[in-house]
Order: sequence, then structure tokens, then C-alpha cells
Amino acid sequence: MIKLGVNIDHVATVRQARRTDEPDPVWAAVEAELGGADGITFHLREDRRHINDRDAELLKQTVAAKLNMEMSINTQIVRIAVKLKPDQCTLVPERREEVTTEGGLDVVRLRRRIGPAVKKLKRAGIITSAFIEPEERQVVGSARCGFDAVELWTGGYAHAKTEAAADEELIKLMEAMDVGHDHGLIVHAGHGLTYRNVQALAAISEFAEFNIGHSIVSRAVLVGMRTAVREMKELLRIAAQPDLALLEAEELMPPGKTQ
Ligand code: PXP
Repeated sequence: MIKLGVNIDHVATVRQARRTDEPDPVWAAVEAELGGADGITFHLREDRRHINDRDAELLKQTVAAKLNMEMSINTQIVRIAVKLKPDQCTLVPERREEVTTEGGLDVVRLRRRIGPAVKKLKRAGIITSAFIEPEERQVVGSARCGFDAVELWTGGYAHAKTEAAADEELIKLMEAMDVGHDHGLIVHAGHGLTYRNVQALAAISEFAEFNIGHSIVSRAVLVGMRTAVREMKELLRIAAQPDLALLEAEELMPPGKTQ
């Protein structure tokens, strides 16, 4: 069954809307674990717009599941990661003006800057992952940079406007996943996955882990983090058993367009 990493950044986004101390992303991480999360993901951005250094420290001290830190290749951030030692670091592109991570890291173009960062993280005993678009050259480039894993950007699939376009994106993801496995990489996926679109991908793929943030946090606002995570886990469990009717999953789907 595909493991679930829960991205808690947007809990901190709500806190920062008032620059106060609630809701606490560290508490959210505990709740997510109690709901069955296999991992907790956070992004320590250069501008600290949501997760801050205090959160990163406390998450390291309290999270019992796999702790995955998303980060840019900025030297200071790499230094913080090496000191913090999360279980895994996922290198992502980062632009100040973006609302969230847009697209994958260009590991082919940036290989000279990425290589040394990967080496430093690996030397600290951290699993390294590259957040990339589902393209063969990016997957091969990640293996050449020395990454242990890749996380394929699922935004193309999640944002597809038609079924045919979604199918095309699924094929791209499957092909890129196979290339990753052929190159000895662990293959994760994430971005834009929701309660509505996760099963189609989960049912046909052999990803090790999905990282999901916005949809789970959105649902958690209404039903609580523990329940929101439990329900996403249930969708993944059903998807891993092709015999179980998808109808069963539909009962879990909340009303609304995007979840
Ligand atoms: N994976 C990576 C590398 C990301 O940057 C993000 C967004 O922070 C996610 C997964 C989660 O995306 P979403 O919030 O759309 O579920």
C-alpha cells in the first residue's frame, strides 16, 4: 500500500495569517500521526512564510513517523537541514512570488549546484529526494545527481481538464515511475492530490509514498486532522485492493468540487 506523507504547511499558513501561535503545526503533526500518517512533510521556505525554524526543531523532536523536509538548494537552508537531520530531504524549486511549489526542479540544468547539496545531505545520513516533473531526462538526471529518490509532480494529472488529458498525464507518470525504478530510485508522487483524484493514481501505480497537503488540511478544518488523515488512508487502502468496489470509496468522498 502506498504510504501517506501529510504536508502540514498550511496549518502554519493559517497561524501566520494573524502572526499568532495557533493553530500549531506541531500539534497538527501529532494529530496526523494519530490518524495514521506514515510521514509528516514540511517546507522550510527561505522567506519562512509558513513553517519557521521553531516548528522545524519541534517537529524533529516530536514526530515519530518519517519526517520529510522540503527545501530549496539555498546554502543556508542546506546547512539547517544537515544540522536538523530529518529522515528525508526533498529538494524543490522555490520562488518567492509563487503561492505553492509550481512544477518540478530542473535537475538537468541545475546539476552543478544540486550535486554538492545532495552529497552534504547524504553525508549527514539523510535520504535525498528530487521533486521533478515526470520526464525521463529529469528522472535520469536525478539518478546522476546521486538522489536516493524522486517525487514526481502530479500537478499535470491533478489539474487536467478532461478525462483524456488526465489519462495522458497518468501514462506520463507511469512511464517516469518505471524509469525511476529501472535506475534504482525510490519513486514518490505529490502535488494537487485530493480525496477525489487520489484513487485512480493509487490503483494503477507502484509509488512508495504520496505527499498530500492542501486537500487534507482543507478537510481537517471541517472534520479534524485525525479524521481527515484516516479517510485519506482509507482511500489508499481500498485502492490497493482492486477487488474492493470503488463504490465503497465513494461513501468517503466529501461533497464539493475539489476534495
Ligand atoms: N510535494 C511537494 C514537493 C510539494 O512542494 C507540495 C506542496 O507543498 C506537495 C507535495 C503537496 O501538494 P498539495 O498541497 O497540493 O497536496
